[in-house]
Amino acid sequence: MAESFSTLRINPDRMLDSFTQLASIAATADGGVNRPTFSEAHLAVRKWFREEIEKSGLEFRTDGAGNHSAFLPVIARSLKGDEAILNSRQEIASGQRTPLAMTLLIGSHLDSVPNGGRFDGALGVMAALEVLKTVKENRINLKLNLEAIDFTDEEGTLVGLLGSAALAGHLSQKDLTSPRGGREHLIEGMMRAGLSDASMLSAARPKDSLAGYLELHIEQGRRLERAGIEIGIVSAIVGIWSYRLSFLGRADHAGSTTMDDRLDASLGASAFTLAAREMVMKDFPNCVVNVGKMDFAPGAFNIVPARVDLALEFRSPNEDEFNRLNAALLDLAEKEAARFGLELKVEFLGKHSPSIMNENVCTAFATACDNLNLTHVSLSSGAGHDGQSLSDLCPVGMIFVPSVDGASHSPREFTKWEDCVNGANVLLQTTLRLAAG
Ligand code: GLV
Ligand code: MN
Ligand code: MN
Repeated sequence: MAESFSTLRINPDRMLDSFTQLASIAATADGGVNRPTFSEAHLAVRKWFREEIEKSGLEFRTDGAGNHSAFLPVIARSLKGDEAILNSRQEIASGQRTPLAMTLLIGSHLDSVPNGGRFDGALGVMAALEVLKTVKENRINLKLNLEAIDFTDEEGTLVGLLGSAALAGHLSQKDLTSPRGGREHLIEGMMRAGLSDASMLSAARPKDSLAGYLELHIEQGRRLERAGIEIGIVSAIVGIWSYRLSFLGRADHAGSTTMDDRLDASLGASAFTLAAREMVMKDFPNCVVNVGKMDFAPGAFNIVPARVDLALEFRSPNEDEFNRLNAALLDLAEKEAARFGLELKVEFLGKHSPSIMNENVCTAFATACDNLNLTHVSLSSGAGHDGQSLSDLCPVGMIFVPSVDGASHSPREFTKWEDCVNGANVLLQTTLRLAAG
């Protein structure tokens, strides 16, 4: 890498200004944000991002999955001001754009969980945009196009890792037909965003178009804070499987039916939840299980529940372990349903495989940290991220910055601004290192 690049830094005030504006859109009273995918609030944040890209003189791009990007083509960087915003057709006609240049993607997501925090996803997108602004204003000519991307529905309000799976060509009609957020909800959301099943399925990019994917994210745990380390270099991202389990019993009068005579769906669901926790803690120490939602029907004080639909998710860093855990959880659900005389209905809602981060990208991150005098450590990610959709398409790497108290998916989420800036500078230096060729 040219010596001059190694002293380049992002503009922390400019990034803070963008981050603060972003955090004010759909802000909640307790300091978080509420931007579930394709809600009005999410559409507002997407519009803001588009305008921010256009204001900065970068090219705005979108695709059939609703991913939004700022694009900085190889050629544009050697030009000044408005000259840099070139019409693609003109560029290709005049031969100015290098048509075969590959693209280095950098990004994260602007959707949030319901009542989530300001940093999850937003920091990564703002840092990626800031990297492109820095490269553009310094007119650095690299060998790769740079693209700062906001992936659609990372959080799984609708499907989960939706935009990245579509871009990677992993999305199938089945994923859209029985999404974990419900088909109706997905259709409504896609309509609001002007998208459809067909557009979603058309967003796949050619394998040889991407040189890599980099993401900066908050850790969402306590390991960096506890160890007093500034940067985490992610070694692997856990996989996630989800199911809807329905425990089916019978509605009865809650006062006149004896305890013996009830087929109470809530008992199967509750017993399963407790037993699953015990089993995972005892037999699957590398894994986690979560029951995030139970819907009771009919759902009244004075009716024995006839049905409980339970949202089950479990995570593991290892495919073999996943298969064993999957079988063990389904067995357990059958057993607990039978214990209370209930039927069990099992609906598989999709999976994201665990993925290993690329070694060369990890090394480039480590070198960037060393050159910036930042301490770093290798760690795995227990949260899902878009990189896991892309890891069989191109080299993928991620870094984490410390989360205060490990809080995330909550308005308590916080990362010191100095740590955010450190992360963005590691992202910039790694981008320059990888894109300089
Ligand atoms: C996404 O943040 C997830 O891990 O659920
Ligand atoms: Mn995230
Ligand atoms: Mn998240």
